[in-house]
Amino acid sequence: MSKPTTKEIQAALLDAAQQARENSYSPYSHFKVGAAVFTRQGHIFTGTNIENASYGLTVCAERNATFAAVGAGEKDIVALALVTQKLPGAKVNSPCGACRQVLAEFMPPNAPIYMAVLEGKKRTVVTKKLKDLIPLAFNLS
Ligand code: THU
Repeated sequence: MSKPTTKEIQAALLDAAQQARENSYSPYSHFKVGAAVFTRQGHIFTGTNIENASYGLTVCAERNATFAAVGAGEKDIVALALVTQKLPGAKVNSPCGACRQVLAEFMPPNAPIYMAVLEGKKRTVVTKKLKDLIPLAFNLS
């Protein structure tokens, strides 16, 4: 098969993130999040948010997807998609600050972040670069 186009990768990632969102364990917030990452090797890994009765132990969808990729030996992530439900007053839901720092460890600054909100069957996508979300990420180099 020929190399997928950016558009094809974006669509596949959004579909995978939306599917992963179905597995969200979020009985406390009732806010379901799905994430999917695309690796340099051309694979998709997914994650969803997993909450805990001890609230602070919750892990976001973006980190679960990232750690699934890295744990499988694929630590170069070239794109990420995120799917959430529409919140009143919010046009887009973006990754939290902790996730941005984790993403900066494994993604280049120009990598695209596709952020989608669902309203029924309608999916609205906003795209930003990682460096727009975390311009001064902490790093030790
Ligand atoms: N959450 C994510 O999974 N990703 C984010 O970027 C923001 C928040 C989850 C954590 C918690 O389960 C719920 O959404 C509400 O904060």
